[in-house]
Amino acid sequence: MTNLADYVFHNVPAQLTPLQEFLDPFTRGELAEIQPAAGGHFLDVGAGGGSVTRMLSELAGESGRVDAVDQDTHMVPEGPNITIHTQDLSSGEPLAAQGPFDLVHGRLLTHHLENRVEFVHRLAGSLKPGGWLLLGEFVRSAPKVVSAPSEHHAAVFQRVLDGLYDVMTARHTHGGWGHEVHRTMLDAGLTEVRTRWHYESWTGGGYGCRLFENNVSQKRDAMIEAGFDAADIDLFLKDLMHNPDMVVRSHEFVSIRGRRA
Ligand SMILES: C[S@@+](CC[C@H](N)C(=O)[O-])C[C@H]1O[C@@H](n2cnc3c(N)ncnc32)[C@H](O)[C@@H]1O
Repeated sequence: MTNLADYVFHNVPAQLTPLQEFLDPFTRGELAEIQPAAGGHFLDVGAGGGSVTRMLSELAGESGRVDAVDQDTHMVPEGPNITIHTQDLSSGEPLAAQGPFDLVHGRLLTHHLENRVEFVHRLAGSLKPGGWLLLGEFVRSAPKVVSAPSEHHAAVFQRVLDGLYDVMTARHTHGGWGHEVHRTMLDAGLTEVRTRWHYESWTGGGYGCRLFENNVSQKRDAMIEAGFDAADIDLFLKDLMHNPDMVVRSHEFVSIRGRRA
């Protein structure tokens, strides 16, 4: 598959399905609090597998509409009230979707964009008065083992996850960006800004470890090129992430919302 933007991963079900299993219940709760009204105009940026696009489509109803934008839209669902736009959002060009919007959602997109600060300002400016911006990001934190079959397993997990984060950071992904979004929304003039954190334990064989497995398998060659031990990576992929005695902390997710006055 050819990706248009210089994005660090490929959109495949093995990555996006476990991501959705982890985050969709949380996002559904965030949307339930915001209560976007039926008939509204919503935007999903970096729509990926489109599970949130689908949620927004249901909330918008027949009289509303949803624009979904991604550099790779092959997994975004079609629907009578959904318009799909293929666009590289790091290009600095005007958004392919025309606002103003009642709600803009973007999950795990902006930490990948070099123009992330300007982009958040642009999203804030695309809201109707009273409209909401809801963004979510993974933030880099020290890998944490909750329980492991041996100290060796624990040490390999920590080394490999640190290696993954290093390789991602080298590709202009910003691991600390999630902590800066709140202030960026305030700078963009949004009100009622609020941040919430979400993480949990992941056990070998479960959806979370399948996500770690996919992230690392997509970056295996880049990690080896950067000097990481292939034997560590292969133990991580073939044993650790399938081992029910391995329990680790998930990626740390931060959810930030703000409202245009
Ligand atoms: C980790 S996925 C998240 C997908 C979805 N928002 C979710 O949370 O289930 C990140 C998404 O951002 C998109 N993306 C990354 N860089 C992009 C860019 N420069 N322009 C447009 N989309 C981009 C990817 O194609 C991918 O669909």
